[in-house]
Order: sequence, then structure tokens, then C-alpha cells
Amino acid sequence: MNAARRWVRECRSLCVLTGAGVSAESGVPTFRGPEGLWKRRDPMSLATPEAFAEDPKEVWEWYQWRRRKIRGCVPNPGHSALAAVEREKPDFLLVTQNVDGLHRAAGSRRLAEIHGDIWVVRCTGCGRERTERDDFETLPPRCGSCGGLLRPGVVWFGEPLPPEASEAAVRMLTRCEVLIVAGTSAVVAPASGYAAVAKRRGARVIEVNPDETPVTGICDATFRGKSGELLPVLLG
Ligand code: APR
Repeated sequence: MNAARRWVRECRSLCVLTGAGVSAESGVPTFRGPEGLWKRRDPMSLATPEAFAEDPKEVWEWYQWRRRKIRGCVPNPGHSALAAVEREKPDFLLVTQNVDGLHRAAGSRRLAEIHGDIWVVRCTGCGRERTERDDFETLPPRCGSCGGLLRPGVVWFGEPLPPEASEAAVRMLTRCEVLIVAGTSAVVAPASGYAAVAKRRGARVIEVNPDETPVTGICDATFRGKSGELLPVLLG
């Protein structure tokens, strides 16, 4: 761990990629693994544009359930350590696949939310977006301006990533000296390929995850454990 701590301490340009595992200790369910959301529900029936077109009410019932579950969750020491290290680095970007808003709640600002934000809703009619943290009385909710269906402001399977966040992530991968990959199963593109992009360029890649993942083999250091415990040590 000392070598990895030194790489992090000495680097000028630090990129971090996080997945659902970083929020697990805050009580936010992950998608895969023994207790994962996809163990009981089929992602293709809930997290695709086709599923939403076919049954917007069912999709919203699930998202409303997730929003309720996440609403009571607070950032854990892993989120806080990431917000703290951001303030020490001249060049830093936190690329997250998480839509729960906990990085922002912890104080992270140089943040690329490449899978969107579960607290944002977007009208499928007029395109208006807004943050809405309360439950909706009626599902599926409709736009107050044009009456169109509102959808969760998240990226579904088969959809493009938000261009600004995605471009910021790719630019950072082309220049970061160190990439930390924490709490992701590294099976969903394009984020699953980010470690290889950084590695090919000569960045040091560090993984924090209780389990092995498809990117473990290319990492310069892998720490098997919980991000809420390991990130404060690695970044401290
Ligand atoms: N600390 C660190 N990692 C953890 C912890 C923890 N406390 N608990 C679990 N993990 C790890 C798991 O071992 C797993 O590798 O976090 C990872 C969670 O993997 P997923 O549930 O697949 O989450 P993620 O990688 O973010 O999924 C990517 O898939 O369904 C889509 O859009 C969704 O953004 C999500 C994407």
C-alpha cells in the first residue's frame, strides 16, 4: 500500500473511476454480486428505452423505489476521502457511474457523472430537465409545461453517455498519471475499458474492490477490501 500511496501523493494528475461498490457502505444497493439489484430484476425490463416505452409505469415504480432507498443514504468515508483529495490536486477528475448523488453530497465538484443523475427528471416531450428529490404522486409523472412523459435523468443500456461528462472522462484518461478504479465490476462499457486506456498510456492503475474484476490483471496495485475503509488510507 505504501507504494500506491506514494504514487497517489506524488502525482499531479489523478483520475478516479467509481462504481456502485463505493456507495455500498452507505446502504445503496449494488447491481451485481450476491445482493445485487440485477439478481432479482431483469435490467433489460427496467433500464432500457424500450422498457420505458413499453411500460413507463413499471419502470417508474422501480426508480421511485430506488429513489426512496437512496434518499436516506449519506456519503461514507470513501466519498469523503475522494472529495478531500480533489482539493489537493491541480488536475483531478472523479468519473462516476453512480447516479445516487453521494459524491456531490460529500463535496466532490470535479465530477463527471457518466451515467446521469437519479434526482434529475427529463421531459420526453419538450426536453426540459430539473432536479426533483421528492416522490411523484402519480406514476409515470408528466411534464407541467407540455404534458409529456417525464423520464429519470439516467443513462439506460443502449443509450449514449452525456457528451460533456464522457468527453471530460476521455480527456482525463489521456493525461492522468494515476487512475484509481474503485467499486466497479468493470463489465459495462465504456467505463469497463477506461483502465486499459489509461494503462496503455503509461498511467499507474490501482484497483479497490473486495472482489477480482476483469481489469484486476492490468492493475499496478489491487487492494481487496471495502472502499470506505481503503480509500481513506490510499488517499490520506
Ligand atoms: N467497496 C468497494 N467495492 C465494493 C464494495 C465496497 N464496500 N461492495 C461491493 N463492491 C464491488 C463489487 O465487488 C463489484 O465489483 O463493487 C462492484 C459493484 O459492481 P456493480 O454492482 O456491477 O456496479 P457497477 O460496476 O457500478 O455497474 C456499472 O451497470 O447496471 C449498470 O448503470 C449501471 O452504473 C451501473 C453499471
